[in-house]
Amino acid sequence: MSAGNFLAEFISSSPEETVALGERIARFLHQGSIVALRGGLGAGKTYLTKGIARGLGVSEEVTSPTYTIISEYEGNLPFYHIDAYRLQGDDDFNALGGAEILYGAGVSVIEWSERIPDSIPEYAIIVELEIREPNHRNILIRNLDL
Ligand SMILES: Nc1ncnc2c1ncn2[C@@H]1O[C@H](COP(=O)(O)OP(=O)(O)OP(=O)(O)O)[C@@H](O)[C@H]1O
Ligand SMILES: [Mg+2]
Repeated sequence: MSAGNFLAEFISSSPEETVALGERIARFLHQGSIVALRGGLGAGKTYLTKGIARGLGVSEEVTSPTYTIISEYEGNLPFYHIDAYRLQGDDDFNALGGAEILYGAGVSVIEWSERIPDSIPEYAIIVELEIREPNHRNILIRNLDL
């Protein structure tokens, strides 16, 4: 299977399961990996990010401060949690040094990545989260480079 063809679908039944899935995704990430998350309010993007961070050796708890767009954490690699919710678009992201981060030596996870469509390279791993029931989330992963 070549890179880009991979598609996987999961059902998560709890926030803990979503964190655990994030930890599994982290095994496939390396320097320069970009994970673009899509899905509306409360879909579980931050929980998935917590798992990815944990899987990459970040010991600090990942949180979602309301007005912080880019948070940097120390793990096996530099880990960037980007929340694009309050950005106007790609120009806004670039003004914050977004490109330097995405093309730097760390791993980046982006919530609300649909807000900055032109900043997401085609090799990014796309994860779509959808609320199915109060505790169920459908999680679709595309482009994981196996
Ligand atoms: N299976 C599940 N996976 C993840 N979260 C779940 C699940 N079931 C219920 N939840 C609840 O959904 C919410 C998900 O919150 P989270 O902050 O991860 O969402 P988000 O997508 O980051 O939202 P936002 O767009 O506001 O940043 C939490 O309140 C959590 O308890
Ligand atoms: Mg969030």
